[in-house]
Amino acid sequence: MTNKNPMKQIQPAFPEWLQGRVQHVEDVLDDLLPPADALPSRLHEAMRYAVLGGGKRVRAALVYAAGQACPVSGSVLAVQASLDRAAAAVELIHAYSLVHDDLPCMDDDTLRRGRPTTHVQFDEATAMLAGDALQPLAFDLLASMPIAPALIVQATQSLARAAGSQGMAGGQAIDLFSVGRALTRDELQTMHSMKTGAMLACSVALGGIVAGASSASRQALDAYAQAVGLAFQVVDDILDVTADSASLGKTPGKDAAENKPTYVSLLGLDGARAFAQELREDALAALAPLGEAGSRLAELADFIVLRDR
Ligand code: IPE
Ligand code: IPE
Ligand code: MG
Ligand code: MG
Ligand code: MG
Repeated sequence: MTNKNPMKQIQPAFPEWLQGRVQHVEDVLDDLLPPADALPSRLHEAMRYAVLGGGKRVRAALVYAAGQACPVSGSVLAVQASLDRAAAAVELIHAYSLVHDDLPCMDDDTLRRGRPTTHVQFDEATAMLAGDALQPLAFDLLASMPIAPALIVQATQSLARAAGSQGMAGGQAIDLFSVGRALTRDELQTMHSMKTGAMLACSVALGGIVAGASSASRQALDAYAQAVGLAFQVVDDILDVTADSASLGKTPGKDAAENKPTYVSLLGLDGARAFAQELREDALAALAPLGEAGSRLAELADFIVLRDR
């Protein structure tokens, strides 16, 4: 079988590949966000501030890597343009979730991506509105992907569910009313899978949808994504305890200070680290049906679990 996926031909080492994707999605986002001088300019400045110039872009990278893991059946250029829009869309929803997560009514954080949080840099109302406006822009980008309408519908539903009350927003609600409570392991897993795992899983799913993945490939992608999505928040919990603010770009120690239930509070540092490793192995095992084409996803699983920021 001929692999018509264009990204397959270029195989830089993982750090260079990731750096290239980070720069590329930054350019795409810069291009697709409204210009700062368009009215209402303060809102557009805040949206651009919240999205551009920072972040690991893990979700965007997952979109590209999942797209690369599936042989493309249609126009390669259309798939590439659609992957760009899907990658930008997940980063927009993610950026909105961070802006709201940092508000005084939620985690009350002042530092994000090494800079003042959006409500500190602007004001609370502008930060709220920036989040409000980033969310529909994400769906606008999906709607304009140059692929079959049936795939756009699937992508839209996937993102809507991942961001909604049974995904990220619901997980954030559970997070807020769990402050000061001891959650069971099952409850903690549900909360983390919703607040963080859902958007990571959606990023992987979008790559597969855009590439027109077979149902067998989609199943493998989904099993990988569940493990990697949960692993991401387990590591976020660990880094809150072990990392410093210079490398993290946010204030560490907040979870304990706010009395949040985390994998570290439940299992201790060593237990949380062991669980992250277990999830990494689950993620890698899930990729087996994809063969060599899944190698970027495997590298991303390693990156997610071994990262220090
Ligand atoms: C932080 O996400 C919030 C969580 C969902 C755990 P990231 O660690 O991906 O944040 P950025 O995008 O790199 O800043
Ligand atoms: C946030 O989880 C998850 C989101 C949906 C934004 P955290 O509250 O742990 O994320 P950080 O540590 O502030 O980045
Ligand atoms: Mg939070
Ligand atoms: Mg937070
Ligand atoms: Mg955290």
